[in-house]
Amino acid sequence: MDKFIIHGGKKLKGTVKIGGAKNAALPILAATLLAPGTHRLHNMPRLRDITTMTCMLEHLGCQVTGDGTLEVRADHLNFDEAPYDMVKTMRASVLVMGPLVARVRHARISLPGGCAIGARPINLHLKAMQALGADIHLKEGYAEVVASRLKGAEIHFDIVTVTGTANAMMAAAVADGTTVITNAACEPEIVDLALFLNAMGAEIEGAGSERVVIRGVPQLKPAEHTIVADRIEAGTFMMAAAITGGDVTLENAPAEFLQTAMARLEETGVRFEHTEHGLRVIGPETITSANVTTEPHPGFATDLQAQFTALMAIARGTSSITETIFENRFMHIPELARMGADISVDGGTATVRGVDKLAGAPVMATDLRASASLVLAGLAAEGTTEIDRIYHIDRGYERIEERLAALGADIQRVTREP
Ligand code: EPZ
Repeated sequence: MDKFIIHGGKKLKGTVKIGGAKNAALPILAATLLAPGTHRLHNMPRLRDITTMTCMLEHLGCQVTGDGTLEVRADHLNFDEAPYDMVKTMRASVLVMGPLVARVRHARISLPGGCAIGARPINLHLKAMQALGADIHLKEGYAEVVASRLKGAEIHFDIVTVTGTANAMMAAAVADGTTVITNAACEPEIVDLALFLNAMGAEIEGAGSERVVIRGVPQLKPAEHTIVADRIEAGTFMMAAAITGGDVTLENAPAEFLQTAMARLEETGVRFEHTEHGLRVIGPETITSANVTTEPHPGFATDLQAQFTALMAIARGTSSITETIFENRFMHIPELARMGADISVDGGTATVRGVDKLAGAPVMATDLRASASLVLAGLAAEGTTEIDRIYHIDRGYERIEERLAALGADIQRVTREP
């Protein structure tokens, strides 16, 4: 397994280009199953999770070619099952449920099982399929979803679910009649999915708001689309600049999707400037503590919580970080403590008492965003940090060590003999 070796203390300086959003690319790749023909998708990030999804599409009968721009041919689907060994590696595999039910009226989806950050059930996805007229049979760890026909429905999500909203939109796109989703996820990635579906001939209004209206159409057609920029990657690089007291310009940063995170970062002393080259992020000499509570978009993103916790670990003062989306998204905290962070956890709230400096140490990545948190801590720490199990970070960040090194970080990937 590969690991990172980081010698901390370098201020990041320079420019970095933000890539396409993983969490938009995944549902959009799944949506290609809805229509035969060749789809063309630009600004596709080169990530492990994208590879996992393209393998899933090929497993179902698609042909996928290209790099950066992907061509997906979904002429004939010869399979309708998302097997356990694929779903267990990436929960987002459940995104093929809606498109399969819409296209071939049947899907056999492995129940995802738990993951590092929480139980993450798919009950709300299944409830949405039932509302649209599907029958659900749970057996042997799989959900069989069968619908002789899909009909428009009222779907209310008791909890905001991003991929649940995506699955409902994709199935409703070709249902008979109109579907209204309430308490829908408002994430920008949902808006990007709706743009792609409408380019395919769907009739979706209200994406990005809590009420989405989908007028079903008989048939969709292949489409071309450019994936929206990744707000979580941009937020992560903002915090890398902040934690190192650096001065970094982000090209293609979707600042409009990061208003809450940028407001919290300004409270810590970070300054932002919109320049002709992109969004300039200037880290403060001294970081001031600030409090955050994670919320569905446009609130503070749960996917930036671990990174912000690392930043607060060396802030002056005490901060309170409350995680409301997932029940176990503090796995980075014991690892940060190994580096000298002073953090206590009570239920969903972490209290971070800032320390002057973190000290480099061997630590272990546990999930995607926790690993990003450890990289940020290593960049700021005195001494050497070794991060093990960095396959987690490769799921959501393209060549992050190369891009950080180009900004002046002393970071390298080493392959440890098995
Ligand atoms: C999406 O996951 C993202 N993944 C996650 O990003 C992100 O953290 C999450 O939304 C929240 O913003 C993708 O888009 C591929 P949810 P998703 O359904 O859709 C509960 C990353 O780091 N819930 O919005 O799986 C669930 O347990 C990843 O890039 C149910 O109870 O999350 C959670 O507590 C991590 N039943 C809450 O809702 C359901 O049927 C929100 O989950 C569905 C969800």
